[in-house]
Amino acid sequence: MPWTTESIVAAAGRYLTPSYKNAPIVFARGEGPWNIAQDGARYLDFSAGVAVNGLGHNHPDLVAAIASQAGRLIHQSNYWHNEHAVPLAADLCDRFERAALACAGVTLQARAFFCNSGGEGTEAAVKLARRYHSRVRNRPRPGIVTVKGSFHGRTYAAMSATAQPKYQDGFEPLVPGFRYAEFGNLDSIAAQIDDTVGAVFIEVVQGEGGVCVPPPGFFRSLRQLCDERGVLLGLDEVQTGFGRTGTLFAFEQEGIAPDLLWLAKALGGGIPIGAVLARQEVAQALQPGTHATTFGANALVTYVGRVVLGVLDRDDLVGNAARMGDYLLARLRDRLGAHSRVVDIRGRGLMCGVQLRGDVPAVIGGCRAGGLLVSLAGTDVVRMTPPLIVDRSHIDFAVDKLADALA
Ligand SMILES: Cc1ncc(COP(=O)(O)O)c(C=O)c1O
Repeated sequence: MPWTTESIVAAAGRYLTPSYKNAPIVFARGEGPWNIAQDGARYLDFSAGVAVNGLGHNHPDLVAAIASQAGRLIHQSNYWHNEHAVPLAADLCDRFERAALACAGVTLQARAFFCNSGGEGTEAAVKLARRYHSRVRNRPRPGIVTVKGSFHGRTYAAMSATAQPKYQDGFEPLVPGFRYAEFGNLDSIAAQIDDTVGAVFIEVVQGEGGVCVPPPGFFRSLRQLCDERGVLLGLDEVQTGFGRTGTLFAFEQEGIAPDLLWLAKALGGGIPIGAVLARQEVAQALQPGTHATTFGANALVTYVGRVVLGVLDRDDLVGNAARMGDYLLARLRDRLGAHSRVVDIRGRGLMCGVQLRGDVPAVIGGCRAGGLLVSLAGTDVVRMTPPLIVDRSHIDFAVDKLADALA
């Protein structure tokens, strides 16, 4: 039986767990910011695999990197080194250190742990924070404060950190020790911190929660609060990292340096890789045997990470994200700001949300029918996270299609 669009869609309902609500499209190819379905229909991808395809689809450098490294060495265990994991760690740590110095005047030395996804980054961050207090500071402080509307992944500690009941429903008992406060509200976070709490974990811009941008000065006050209480500040930059918000790391725009941060999504441009970066004092908590993953840091994924960073630099894609982000926000506000269904238009860089009244999934379906892929964030936000390679013509197309879908 040939696997046509119809037979794939039908068999999905028989063979896959019903975990995903897939639209009945089968993508066969990608071309820059475009996704091309099996039937030849072209869609402008303003989701970018939920902020993964920063370089767009099938970027020639990425394709060449995967092919060449696959021909040399794909995987080895963490018992040995390969040629790329340490250089990628050095590059990421160097970028974290330089960013911390430039934006906050903080001198730090960082170390990296590689994993395979954002959720695994959260898991590693939870273990790191807890073991740092129990074994480096010799005073257990297992509590971790996260904020409502957050999203940190679907594995157990990550789901327990995710302060949204809909993701936790039916999976109880959760991992103990998580406490929830309000995003952007320092008093509510302060109220959750006592001497059993060792860390605050937070996204700089909430992605899945609805593209929520922090109020000005919030992160500086939070940094100060964490310092006063001896609590680690951990930033989940899984979605915001690698230029998405117009700077390499989103924290750079807040004038603070975290104690640890974790990254995934765009680092591999579609190849699964994640990384936790932590200050040296914190990172030493992960002594041999305390944490590991089979695939993390293999030669293929870490080489791809190096190439992604190289292309970001060479093509000034972080700068492009800042410029195109401004243009996208301005065009959305200009075209849709006065629309009766629009509640708010917000974002940072190429991470934009249009909050709507009424049936938002229907609007997203309307965009798709017009050839534009966007995703839902929260319950009522159309989220745009296009590849960082987009130009004005792509943005004009997307804004037109969203306007059409709203009409
Ligand atoms: C901020 C944030 N953290 C963690 C995750 C989980 O990442 P993954 O799906 O790769 O496990 C996501 C995914 O959307 C995310 O946006």
